[in-house]
Amino acid sequence: MNYNIAVIEGDGIGPEVVNAAIEVLNTVGKKYKFSFVFKKVSAGGNAIDRFGTPLPKESVQTCLESNSVLLGAVGGPKWDILPGHLRPEKALLGIRKELELYANLRPARLLPELKDACPLRKEVADAGFDMIVVRELTGGMYFGESGRRDGKYGPEAYDTECYSALEVERIGVTAFELARSRGKKLISIDKANVLESSRLWREVMHRLAGKYPDVELSDMLVDNAAMQLVKNPKQFDVVVTSNIFGDILTDEASQITGSIGLLPSASLGETKRGMYEPIHGSAPDIAGQDKANPIATVLSAAMMLRLSLGQEDAARDVEDAVSRVLAKGLRTADIAAPGDDILPCSTMTKAILNAL
Ligand code: NAI
Ligand code: MG
Repeated sequence: MNYNIAVIEGDGIGPEVVNAAIEVLNTVGKKYKFSFVFKKVSAGGNAIDRFGTPLPKESVQTCLESNSVLLGAVGGPKWDILPGHLRPEKALLGIRKELELYANLRPARLLPELKDACPLRKEVADAGFDMIVVRELTGGMYFGESGRRDGKYGPEAYDTECYSALEVERIGVTAFELARSRGKKLISIDKANVLESSRLWREVMHRLAGKYPDVELSDMLVDNAAMQLVKNPKQFDVVVTSNIFGDILTDEASQITGSIGLLPSASLGETKRGMYEPIHGSAPDIAGQDKANPIATVLSAAMMLRLSLGQEDAARDVEDAVSRVLAKGLRTADIAAPGDDILPCSTMTKAILNAL
């Protein structure tokens, strides 16, 4: 078996963490007798510098012709002065839209080996948590009508949150199916006390619940959810929410696992092709210094093996290798406790390869 993977290294620490994941995929491929052809394509800030656009057409084409896409992160202060439509982030939004990747799965699990890195009270960390956020990815505020205009008191800017029932339904189905395969509990997070778009969201989720009598659906307002996440994260199993709420809540969830450098994600649509990326950004503050934690991207590659390539054994092997390395006490800077030796990205990667 040979897989074609489009690789978007992106900016900042993107190339460092993506190359770690490529080495892991090559190694696990050898072990399980499959191989990869990685096609590097340009997107984000580096594409702006080279081609004058954050997402060249050829890059989208290569992604469409591949089995899956592996992405580091895009953006950085260098491009912050550009107008909205030319910014690196447009590349991400563009690929998600072009590939119709409407479901973003973001697991946040406190690894038993990293309980000490959890900033919550010891009893809460000891109880553990293992949740997965299903975030809608191609609708809502990030894709709504936006602009500037002259208002009564001077210049104004606006962004609009709009969801169709169809968009809510398809992300709802993803979430209910996932809940069915896990703890049979689904929490839908919205702001239905204020937003009309959330009231539609809630209606559709409850209509869907009728088709999943084995799954227990409950609603939670997003502000309360932000609080509950740090108070009692164990109550969450599968969570479904909108694009913007999911963006914010998963950064919060990442911190209670210890570091954003640990958390992977998968973006899926109707086909097997997905995009896999860490949930963190390009971390300009540590870029080019071999300090990044490669685990989020390595675990994203494991999700790719499982969800797009159907290589469950290989996926589990990669996850086990990461756990064994952490169990040995190996730490990059973001997850180190005072007194720990701090490993560079490249050494952490070698340790994972050895564990494999
Ligand atoms: P960030 O996630 O890049 O960094 C936040 C903090 O976490 C920084 O202190 C960083 O050093 C640390 N961090 C992130 N990943 C890490 C890793 N693997 N190992 C160790 N430490 C890590 O978020 P920030 O600073 O808000 O954004 C930086 C740039 O990244 C911006 O231009 C932003 O637009 C872009 N970005 C891109 C994303 C993507 O491509 N998917 C997602 C989020 C932000
Ligand atoms: Mg984000």
